[in-house]
Amino acid sequence: MQQAYRFSVAPMLDCTDRHFRVLMRQISHCSLLYTEMVVAQAIHHARRASDGAERLERLIGFDPLEKPLALQLGGDDPTLLAEAAALAAERGYDEVNLNVGCPSDKVQRGRFGACLMAEPARVAACVSAMARASGLPVTVKHRIGIDQRDSYDELVQFVDTVAAGGAERFAVHARKAWLEGLDPRQNRTVPPLRYDLVHRLKRDRPHLTIELNGGLETPDACLAQLQQVDGVMVGRAVYAHPLRWAGVDRLIHGRQVNDPVLASTVLRGLIPHAQRWTAGGGRLWAIARHLVHLVEAVPGARHWRASLTKAAGERSAGAAVLAEAARALEERGL
Ligand SMILES: Cc1cc2nc3c(=O)[nH]c(=O)nc-3n(C[C@H](O)[C@H](O)[C@H](O)COP(=O)(O)O)c2cc1C
Repeated sequence: MQQAYRFSVAPMLDCTDRHFRVLMRQISHCSLLYTEMVVAQAIHHARRASDGAERLERLIGFDPLEKPLALQLGGDDPTLLAEAAALAAERGYDEVNLNVGCPSDKVQRGRFGACLMAEPARVAACVSAMARASGLPVTVKHRIGIDQRDSYDELVQFVDTVAAGGAERFAVHARKAWLEGLDPRQNRTVPPLRYDLVHRLKRDRPHLTIELNGGLETPDACLAQLQQVDGVMVGRAVYAHPLRWAGVDRLIHGRQVNDPVLASTVLRGLIPHAQRWTAGGGRLWAIARHLVHLVEAVPGARHWRASLTKAAGERSAGAAVLAEAARALEERGL
């Protein structure tokens, strides 16, 4: 997986599930994809449950075509995180990532996520245990600071301590998080973006691999950042506008790409996945719900979405619904 991290799709709960990842794979073959955050303790409990195999499949199952793929873990206990990381290696994940950026109340009650930025030594111990147990690259996703602990020196101290624990890369969400007073959504918009601090971090620690995350809206904006950092990670703008990123394999990964990626090609590519999923008893809607943003800014897009949503919402809907939706797009050259 050479430098797949130059462009990655950020972990997003309720968005980057296995279906969206298969969708994104139709758009970019080279980019690094992340799972949603999975809590290490949930993996621990699932392994011991009588229906453990199904629970684990729901939590961390994936299709090899999603690779290169990183499992994002949440937790603060080196033993539990090591167990989860070892399982990730067994299952064929390419990397594991520790979430040190989520500010939600629920995550704070578990004493992990962004609040761990105040405990660099603990994060280092977690990273080290995960790397030892799994043999996989362990990366950390974090903020530039939390609450009053938001100086550049504290950021560097955090990164240095965690790097000494063996972290392979740092994905830095270029905003601080307020742990009290702002909800997670506000914590993604209210604190100002400080790309300058991430650039400075890379300049001061050139031997570390630093990715920048937060507020990137276009491939061109990503290319501009890549002048200063090793990788870029994009979340909301990928989910809301998947086809906007159709050029990243060529533009960012420097790959020769022959056919243009169209909405209909993406849909056709999803059909085998939908067949397997529905044959296993899954609902088509789990896949189709991610398709609403695939066609935008063209006349008739709303009608196309409405028909797809209606047909895919039927309990018995199968992959033929996607084939029909693709045909409707192909008739219009989309
Ligand atoms: C719906 C949603 C869910 C998210 N879930 C996670 C998560 O599970 N783990 C994580 O580290 N960050 C999560 N994030 C934060 C994103 O990974 C990313 O850091 C943030 O959205 C900023 O990047 P963007 O401006 O490109 O969206 C989530 C963001 C959104 C919008």
